[in-house]
Amino acid sequence: MIESVSSASSQKELLNVLNGRAVSRRPLWFMRQAGRYLKEYKQVREQAGSFLKLCYTPELAAEVTIQPLRRFDLDAAILFSDILVIPQALGSTLDFVENEGPVLQTVRSKDDVSKLDDNRIAEILGPIIETVKLVKPQLKPHESFIGFCGAPWTVATYMIEGGTSSDRALAKKAAFSGEAWFDQLIDILVETSIEYLAMQVAGGVEVLQIFDSWASDLPDIFRGKYCFKPISRIISGLRDKGITVPIIGFARGLGSGQEEFVDRVDVSAVGVESNLSLAWIRDNLIGKTVVQGNLDPVLLDCGGPGLAINIEHILQHLPKDRHIFNLGHGIRQTTDVEHVSQMIDIVREYDNKSG
Ligand code: CP3
Repeated sequence: MIESVSSASSQKELLNVLNGRAVSRRPLWFMRQAGRYLKEYKQVREQAGSFLKLCYTPELAAEVTIQPLRRFDLDAAILFSDILVIPQALGSTLDFVENEGPVLQTVRSKDDVSKLDDNRIAEILGPIIETVKLVKPQLKPHESFIGFCGAPWTVATYMIEGGTSSDRALAKKAAFSGEAWFDQLIDILVETSIEYLAMQVAGGVEVLQIFDSWASDLPDIFRGKYCFKPISRIISGLRDKGITVPIIGFARGLGSGQEEFVDRVDVSAVGVESNLSLAWIRDNLIGKTVVQGNLDPVLLDCGGPGLAINIEHILQHLPKDRHIFNLGHGIRQTTDVEHVSQMIDIVREYDNKSG
């Protein structure tokens, strides 16, 4: 068995909260905490030449993973990589085009699916595991290390659309019309994700997050098949391998469907989007699981009194033993680093005052 933590209280508050233990301070970290809003990130990104080169150069990827922890008082580092390295490891071409985003070779038929090759996952993703190994010894005793992958539905949308799409209509059509190749694609992504996450844990990550950024695309009757089930299969696949690390599920945009998500998927915590009501979260989720979120990244970008009021609103509704302070989605590129520091100060001061 790979033991992530002992049952005794740890200096790592993120692990404490995820394992159901009381915390002395509320854990916090931010999705996309490493990225273009940091000038030191832009510098390393330029040195690497491209985003993908940065992901696949362990020394540089380790450096940008650590950067936000040097600047801010955070409880976790998140591995610097991307959810789209899995399609790439399966043999799809991948490029990140400046001001446009990812461009992938499309997968739109049985034939396209049959060309995906899962034999080289460990080799192609090897440098990312090197990053994990470089970061781990640099973390302080209170800092947890988060690894991640995309959920099969979200990764499949990028593979079918060939990149970011405004409505994911091609992917939705493939799923809703019951194409056999679509189910096969989901199966491949489930298996590959298990292998990739297991590699990350073997390398030293202590928590996993599964990002289903486009879960909101799935109407009620498809949510079980394409959101809850594939994520559950990944989790059971990891548990079958003896991997016990806590897992955070982030199925963005399910709204009141987040309750069914936590009922059906055995996660240690659920990440919630910004437009979910705090009273609803308190009344329907907090009794069942730990909640992560959900400040609107635009509020953080704005700063000012609105930011403080919204942070306090979150803190008042969610107890620190059941909450991981985070955003409802990733930090925006235009965010002022001063706003990030202010946000962290507000969270720390609130918990100091209220004990
Ligand atoms: O700091 C962290 O959170 C860790 C690193 C991380 C990145 N992407 C780095 C990144 C993580 C966890 C992701 C996840 C990811 N990637 C998701 C799920 C979360 C979400 O945002 O919904 C998705 C959908 C992707 C796919 C992706 N990667 C897109 C659509 C884009 C282009 C949009 C953009 O912001 O440029 C990326 C690029 C990307 N991934 C960047 C970073 C720092 C920016 C690339 C750059 O530096 O040029």
